[in-house]
Amino acid sequence: MADTLTITDNRTGKTYEVPIADGTIRATDLRQIRAGADDGGLATYDPAFMNTAACRSRITFIDGERGILEYRGYPIEQLAEKSTYLETAYLVIFGELPTEAQLQQWTREITFHTMLHENIKKLMDGYQYDAHPMGAFLSTVGAFSTFYPDAKKIFDEKSRLKQVHRLIAKVPTIAAYAYRHSIGRPYVYPDNDLSFTGNFLNMLFKMTELKYQPNPVLERALDVLFILHADHEQNCSTSAMRSIGSSHADPYSAMAGAAAALYGPLHGGANEAVLRMLNEIGSVANVPAFIKRVKGGEGRLMGFGHRVYKSYDPRAKIIKQTADQVFEVTGKNPLLEIALELERIALQDDYFVTRKLYPNVDFYSGLIYQAMSFPVDMFPVLFAIPRTSGWIAQWEEMLLDPEQKIARPKQIYTGAKRRDYVALASRK
Ligand code: CMC
Repeated sequence: MADTLTITDNRTGKTYEVPIADGTIRATDLRQIRAGADDGGLATYDPAFMNTAACRSRITFIDGERGILEYRGYPIEQLAEKSTYLETAYLVIFGELPTEAQLQQWTREITFHTMLHENIKKLMDGYQYDAHPMGAFLSTVGAFSTFYPDAKKIFDEKSRLKQVHRLIAKVPTIAAYAYRHSIGRPYVYPDNDLSFTGNFLNMLFKMTELKYQPNPVLERALDVLFILHADHEQNCSTSAMRSIGSSHADPYSAMAGAAAALYGPLHGGANEAVLRMLNEIGSVANVPAFIKRVKGGEGRLMGFGHRVYKSYDPRAKIIKQTADQVFEVTGKNPLLEIALELERIALQDDYFVTRKLYPNVDFYSGLIYQAMSFPVDMFPVLFAIPRTSGWIAQWEEMLLDPEQKIARPKQIYTGAKRRDYVALASRK
């Protein structure tokens, strides 16, 4: 017997059978139930999508209760240990780990597309001298749609692949230009002899030396952080990417919107907010008072809690190990002691325990980035670079899914009833 849900409408005594598939019922199956005399049928009300699946996806699996994260079936722990960001990006986008030949070809394509059109420099020169790099990043990604009008051919597979190469290859260059602009230093062109992350460090930090040599430990640590951030199923920015993409906008326009969603302090801006919070706390001695304020409703413990994870975020575990390797090279970040004390106290405090609030990916990533000399403003940009692979994969999956249409949630109207226009002179 097929799984069904039997619903009895107490108002009419009628009974309805609604199929259950994959742990869900179809919201449109509820429409057969009348909600009132002249309505379009019963709907569900789910602000912030707390319990609504909006798509089927084969990209990322998360079990929030058990702290499991997998890309295309591969556990994040194995990818962080054995893979590289470029290989993981390939996996996330194309669904399988590449063969040696595929990886070579992919790496060649990405390397080939790292440079930006020279006019992008002029565009970025127009930003205020102290422009936040994330603001500059997201608007430059949007501007790309004017440089690559061929991207509008979203149902042309070859064209889509071209934009995939461009996006993955160019986001580190945009990010580095945004950073160099914000500190008033000349832009550094890509060095295609270096790895993906090695070249990124080159474009950020190269000064007058002829050839920039990235520190291999820091280069690998950044690569691991990029792997951890590649995708995270239907989060706020990915939903924005899918939603904008569902109107058949080009991928650059859609990604500008996704990056804007990532900018917020509750999402990708959280790592920046964690650093500001640690600075504000100032010392280990002030931690108990800070926790008390959070429990009293004065602000949040940034880097804690997650909509999906109700146990330790598996990414945070890996990041903690990476932090140790980075600090061996850079020296300990003095804010680490405060972070460790916050975690220690929070993990045994009833307020956090009962609400299942654990450190998330952003709690320690900012400390690593800061130790690696990234300014705090760059943190959300460092999230956006690897998340580009997830956004692209999810965008393409949405486009090719025959069940998807333009995204258009319903609302419950709570405004004024119909009334007649009042002339200006008669208004009070
Ligand atoms: N500090 C203190 N209390 C918290 C926190 C926190 N960080 N997070 C949630 N709570 C409390 C919240 O006040 C609520 O308590 P009550 O039931 O008494 O009203 C309860 O826990 C449930 O919180 P919620 O806001 O309903 O949970 P949510 O699923 O809507 O929010 C979240 C998820 C990530 C936005 C939230 O936990 C938060 O604001 N965390 C801090 C920001 C942060 O670190 N964001 C990064 C997320 S990971 C990176 C990413 O994927 O973007």
